[in-house]
Amino acid sequence: MDRKKVLITRDLPGDAIKFLEADCDLLCAPSKDEMPRARLLELIPEADALICLLSEKIDKEVISKAPKLKVISNYAVGYNNIDVEFATKSGIYVTNTPDVLTEATADLAWALLLCTARRIVEGDSLVRQNQFTGWAPDLLLGLDVSCKTLGIVGLGRIGLAVARRASGFGMKVVYWSKKRKEDLEEKYNLEYETLDDLLELADFVSLNVALTEETHHLIGQREFSLMKKSAILINTARGQVVDEAALVEALKSGQIRAAGLDVYENEPQVHPGLLGLENVVLAPHVGSGTIDTRAKMAEMVVLDVLTALKGHKPINAIN
Ligand code: GLV
Ligand code: GLV
Repeated sequence: MDRKKVLITRDLPGDAIKFLEADCDLLCAPSKDEMPRARLLELIPEADALICLLSEKIDKEVISKAPKLKVISNYAVGYNNIDVEFATKSGIYVTNTPDVLTEATADLAWALLLCTARRIVEGDSLVRQNQFTGWAPDLLLGLDVSCKTLGIVGLGRIGLAVARRASGFGMKVVYWSKKRKEDLEEKYNLEYETLDDLLELADFVSLNVALTEETHHLIGQREFSLMKKSAILINTARGQVVDEAALVEALKSGQIRAAGLDVYENEPQVHPGLLGLENVVLAPHVGSGTIDTRAKMAEMVVLDVLTALKGHKPINAIN
């Protein structure tokens, strides 16, 4: 094929970009830093393909400046940053990176769950501050995880992977999803509940829904009031699924016990109320952040770009 022009907004881990460069020209050398929007808008008119990040808004303004664009490859599974409807109308494929990051993201949900239940971060800081004065019967008591009830909100690939891990802990797993999935219920021993019932039943609530208009602020003040006072909320999905101000209040007032968060409503800003609380563990949106997974995600976006530039439908096209 004649050499097409690809815009990559940021350098990606692994060797995939080198592979892409064998066939295509890059519109700029991939940088270690975030690409300013003005630079993206300046380069996009020349691009046949775009590889972008979930932190970049690929909206009408960007897409309408890109007459040659064949494909937008999002280096993430979630694609709420892209105006997919407008891309589709403009005849542009949109792709994402499903499956490869499912297990890593489920691992992180569990890391946050165990970390909050057993107060690992509080313990770490106590030891570092030289305040560990010896074993004590009541030192940093946490919660049992084994044999408790895990509530999965959104039974997609990641939700199911979080659920599967619970069997090793002898937990009961309940779930709510837009679509009930009876085949999975039997296979993985899951019980379907309404969202309200799940919130009342669960000791741990893991959010695994995609962000859509329907899931925006799915969990707010009313939902926290349904949860157990001993409940722990884990969010590795999208920050906007939770009303963050209501979460701060629920954590402060003891309406729920703790939260483990990887995502925030206005990333990279974090609600200042969260920063002062000890009963929340804050991770910097690293759900898929393992060396292997991030390299595989780069291979996926590159393969999808090459496929689209050859005139075929990319494997991970979502439109
Ligand atoms: C990360 O949040 C992703 O959507 O891949
Ligand atoms: C969402 O896209 C998932 O993989 O669960």
